[in-house]
Amino acid sequence: MTLLKNIKIKVANNSYPIVLGNNILKNFYKFYFRYCTHSKKVLFVSNSQIPNKYLKTIRASLPKKINHYSLMIPAGEKNKNLPQVNKILDFLTKNNFDRNDTVVALGGGVVGDIVGFAASIFKRGIGFVQVPTTLLAQVDSSVGGKTGVNNNFGKNLIGTFYHPQFVLIDIAVLYSLSKREMISGFAEILKYSLIMNKKFFFWLCEYGHEIIDRLNRKTILKAIEISCKSKALIVGKDEKEKGLRAILNFGHTIGHALESHLKYSSKLNHGEAVIIGMMAASKVSVTRGFLNKVELHKITHLYSKLNLKYSLKKYLRSSQIHNFADIMKKDKKNNSDTINLILLKQIGKAFIYKTTLGKTLIPFVKNELINV
Ligand SMILES: NC(=O)c1ccc[n+]([C@@H]2O[C@H](COP(=O)([O-])OP(=O)(O)OC[C@H]3O[C@@H](n4cnc5c(N)ncnc54)[C@H](O)[C@@H]3O)[C@@H](O)[C@H]2O)c1
Repeated sequence: MTLLKNIKIKVANNSYPIVLGNNILKNFYKFYFRYCTHSKKVLFVSNSQIPNKYLKTIRASLPKKINHYSLMIPAGEKNKNLPQVNKILDFLTKNNFDRNDTVVALGGGVVGDIVGFAASIFKRGIGFVQVPTTLLAQVDSSVGGKTGVNNNFGKNLIGTFYHPQFVLIDIAVLYSLSKREMISGFAEILKYSLIMNKKFFFWLCEYGHEIIDRLNRKTILKAIEISCKSKALIVGKDEKEKGLRAILNFGHTIGHALESHLKYSSKLNHGEAVIIGMMAASKVSVTRGFLNKVELHKITHLYSKLNLKYSLKKYLRSSQIHNFADIMKKDKKNNSDTINLILLKQIGKAFIYKTTLGKTLIPFVKNELINV
């Protein structure tokens, strides 16, 4: 079963395809020749936790006249930093890459974000391709052109908007992922349903387990297709996050702060943090009077059906709340105490709510830590 789909991303001065299918890594060369027309050299960047067979399959698909290289960077959010970017830049410089050549990110969101950033600044922009290998990267981080790394002050604080020439999504690579990583990717799929597509939410209530447990390739393809199209729609309208694109941050204010608070420990991955953050934002939507309790009940029902964990208490103690609030203030999307919180009016309808930490989030978090 190959089942190829082509999704177009259109942004202001650019458009590029997401090619989606099953067992399509071996076809990499076709898209490379179609979309990277002047490239003579390719650097593949990946990490050693990603099965080597994927890299081998792609490299084997390229003809001899193309010089291809590979570079491994260490896995993990803790390594999403400038030293890794430098490593890539040094490699490209030493091997005389020019702007027409190509750098391919073969990996999850960490590899994609680092490589995309390096590609965007090398000689003011070298060709770039994304081959995302986690569910999260396939439905979210490889789409939309955000690149970047963390520094000591927080997540993704250094970065650029830079689009790939194409994105190749092969769902066959998902079968070597842990279930935990499947749940993490599912978090972002669920996010699209909650912010903009109620029908998709009900479909996920019915078929979500087939995605998480990888029971049905057609279901997985459909979920990825709807997710990528949802993101493409939003990014097409607001590429640089001047307004609408912010709704994609649903669940991320608390999620990012938790990740940062835990110093990007593997105890909690990105999607797991978003799962907690989305439940928190849904509950805040109810306490602020926007979302009704029946809708919240539908969300909690889906969480329990799919065994999605959302306890804040496991990761945060009451005594740490001020440190946690400071992290939220430093988030680049917020100015001092005023924050842009993404809340729900109903399932499938998100909006940007300007509030202050002291008025909305801190009392909520305190309450959750004391009462849960
Ligand atoms: N740029 C964006 O728009 C955007 C959007 C969402 C998230 N992100 C970023 O994405 C990152 C999270 O991405 P992630 O969840 O993919 O994490 P990740 O990149 O750390 O990958 C998770 C783990 O899975 C391993 N792995 C990857 N593919 C595999 C495969 N096919 N088989 C076996 N193991 C595999 C990785 O080595 C890693 O250990 C975060 O840094 C987040 O900030 C960026």
